[in-house]
Amino acid sequence: MRTLFTCMIGIAFLIVSVIPAIGQEKVDAKALFEAKCNACHKADKATSKKKTPKEWQATVTRMKEVRKAPVNDEEAAIITKYLGENYGKEAKK
Ligand code: HEC
Repeated sequence: MRTLFTCMIGIAFLIVSVIPAIGQEKVDAKALFEAKCNACHKADKATSKKKTPKEWQATVTRMKEVRKAPVNDEEAAIITKYLGENYGKEAKK
């Protein structure tokens, strides 16, 4: 009985800690982008442009690999997605 109770408390905590994270994904991506991409040039170097997701991928990869922006693969993916969704343009057909 005690174990079950402990287990339920655990699950309740898990749910409570996961719920706020869902709505925050976008905010976190913006904060991450501004924290990581504002050092060598202003973030508006990126936000003043519109690129296709593929072009953003290339830019973020270049910043990471060539310019040595301090992002890991996961952060690069989050920033690429954020830029694609908010500063995107349609791919040329
Ligand atoms: C370590 C320094 C540094 C960091 C950190 C950095 N950049 Fe850059 N960025 C540069 C330099 C230098 C240039 C100009 C030369 C070039 O375009 O490669 C540039 C140019 C750019 C350009 C204009 C050129 C283009 O392709 O449109 C964009 C957009 C850009 N950066 C986006 C980003 C993003 C997004 C991040 C965060 C992931 C980032 N940068 C982080 C150094 C950096």
